[in-house]
Amino acid sequence: MASNREACGVWIVYACVITLLANSAVCAAQTSASKRKTATAVYGTPKIDATIDPIWKKAEVLVTDRRVSGVSTVPASAAARAKVRTMWDKDHMYILCEVKDGNLSAKGGDGWNHDSVEIFLDENNGKAGRFEMDDCQYRVNYKGATDGGQNYEAANLVARAREVDDGYIIEMAIKLRTTKGKPGNKLGFDVQVNDDPGTGMRQSIMKWSDATDRSYHDTSRWGTLVLAKELKAKSGKKTTTSTSDNKAPISDTNKTKGTQTKVE
Ligand code: BGC
Ligand code: CA
Repeated sequence: MASNREACGVWIVYACVITLLANSAVCAAQTSASKRKTATAVYGTPKIDATIDPIWKKAEVLVTDRRVSGVSTVPASAAARAKVRTMWDKDHMYILCEVKDGNLSAKGGDGWNHDSVEIFLDENNGKAGRFEMDDCQYRVNYKGATDGGQNYEAANLVARAREVDDGYIIEMAIKLRTTKGKPGNKLGFDVQVNDDPGTGMRQSIMKWSDATDRSYHDTSRWGTLVLAKELKAKSGKKTTTSTSDNKAPISDTNKTKGTQTKVE
């Protein structure tokens, strides 16, 4: 039989292990929370035609600079990535993506193996982990083909795509399903860029906030968009816009070719 002293020693070791595990879990939660990104979406109603209208000049630029390891087989420097701008009005979120990708392909069978962009939207910013009713995944490939994941309905997404010299542009309107756009509202948000080098298999995923490939079934690492009436310019001046209606005007063509207009 173990002496009292030995038993006591064993319990102390157990207690230390449990404390260590608990601390590392808290640490992991804090680390992933502190790594989440936040940005501002600015108020306005763009025309959805995959051309970069002047209205986008006032929007904050987000970059998909987080490489998803495990899935990605090329370094971040060789992966397709996007500059992303966001806008909102009462009924929609608008997203403009300028994707740099030297080799465009949609050979693969699954949408996520195409050159494509995915948007993750958590309308109540619950960051609940599992998908709730207000959480949704949207996908648009470089040709403008749309699909999605949980809670996706084709009627809620309008997208236009255009090939440009160094990649493609995607502009989309996502209908808000469970909330209305209001200044100060926060939405969980992420952007994913899938890159097919021409083989039909994805070679990389770049994200704005969540550096894992779990976004399609776990909302907890997505970043946050704060809806603002206007964006404070770096100089301290504010940029404002007025829009007369809340309907997203949609262009007739699904895909147009042309040269990219730089807005910066
Ligand atoms: C992920 C894929 C996943 C797909 C499901 C994508 O965002 O990258 O790995 O199979 O979503 O829709
Ligand atoms: Ca590609």
